[in-house]
Amino acid sequence: MTEQDRQKAAAAAAAVAEVRPGMVVGLGTGSTAAFMIDLLAERVRAGLSILAIPTSERSDAQARRTGIPLTDFAAHPEIDITIDGADQVELGTLNLIKGMGGALLREKIVADASKRLLIMADATKLADRLALPVPVEVVRFGWEATARKIARLGGHAALRRDAAGAPYATDGGNAILDCDFGAIADPASLERALREIVGVVETGLFIGRADAVLVAGPDGVRRLERT
Ligand code: A5P
Repeated sequence: MTEQDRQKAAAAAAAVAEVRPGMVVGLGTGSTAAFMIDLLAERVRAGLSILAIPTSERSDAQARRTGIPLTDFAAHPEIDITIDGADQVELGTLNLIKGMGGALLREKIVADASKRLLIMADATKLADRLALPVPVEVVRFGWEATARKIARLGGHAALRRDAAGAPYATDGGNAILDCDFGAIADPASLERALREIVGVVETGLFIGRADAVLVAGPDGVRRLERT
């Protein structure tokens, strides 16, 4: 295991420790969330009674494989806690960029239905300003026109491709534009402006959604609360 993986696993262990019997748990997506799902499954095997709603086909498959019982929004429209990773965390606000793993739409739906959103991160993900390209899920039809509209907001929008070079397809069958705005001075306004563009399904900007972030570094895991 690399040092970064060790840190991701430490953040995941701290997050899983916050799950209580009887909870409905949102399962995030990504490499940190994969550690979390395995550790949560260990607790389930040891007798913890929970139900979970995954944020992607990948996390759904891992939960089923490891024996975590699943539910859905029909049975449980409200989730007690969602545990997820992030690509970048803004210090202070705990605003996030998510979606490098392509699951941003389901992640936001699950986060929105959750009483608490707990984020796991290693220290490399912290930043004073969000500055990574923002993943934006768009309808495939007319994506070039949507990309032009995004460019008018000052972002360079690149169509995400899969390993074979084909346009990347999300679990919902949409495309992703990775939109580079440089350092983002006002993420909330940018999110609103992006969501007004016809063809945009959802953005990877998670504004005011994270309640706490568990940050793993070489010296252990510390907790940041939204101020
Ligand atoms: C998935 O779409 C993303 O939002 C992930 O939560 C994010 O990319 C973090 O992934 P890692 O834990 O692999 O860094």
